[in-house]
Amino acid sequence: MNHRELLEQALEARKRAYAPYSGFLVGAALLGTSGKIYLGCNVENASYGATCCAERVALFSAVCAGERTFQAIGIVGGKTDEEARNSSCAPCGVCRQALWEFCGGDFWVVTNPSNPESHTLEELLPCAFQKETLDSSN
Ligand code: THU
Repeated sequence: MNHRELLEQALEARKRAYAPYSGFLVGAALLGTSGKIYLGCNVENASYGATCCAERVALFSAVCAGERTFQAIGIVGGKTDEEARNSSCAPCGVCRQALWEFCGGDFWVVTNPSNPESHTLEELLPCAFQKETLDSSN
């Protein structure tokens, strides 16, 4: 599974996004160490704060399926299909933190199907708060 294929899967997931409030449709495809792919789309709510981002939908679905280690995530987002295929969609801060729990810093975050760009999670979330932080403060 290469990064381009992961972004194509994310575009498929984006078709199922529920975003009547923002109109911004996001899709994510999370690649597990097993080789399986877990999809997510954003799911909004009339109580805006109850919304869940595509990345966390994919992550929580994977964890519920029994997978806990991951290689990469493809993310696409945009109000139109054209925008989603031709632009970058960086994960929000909450999703960076949620991904860190299982993926750590040595994990690829890939976006922009027409011109793929990759960053490690370490680059996107330097000095992460993590389980070791809790251990060391006791
Ligand atoms: N959204 C995501 O799904 N992932 C992100 O990383 C950024 C934001 C969603 C949440 C909301 O439904 C819409 O995009 C606009 O913020």
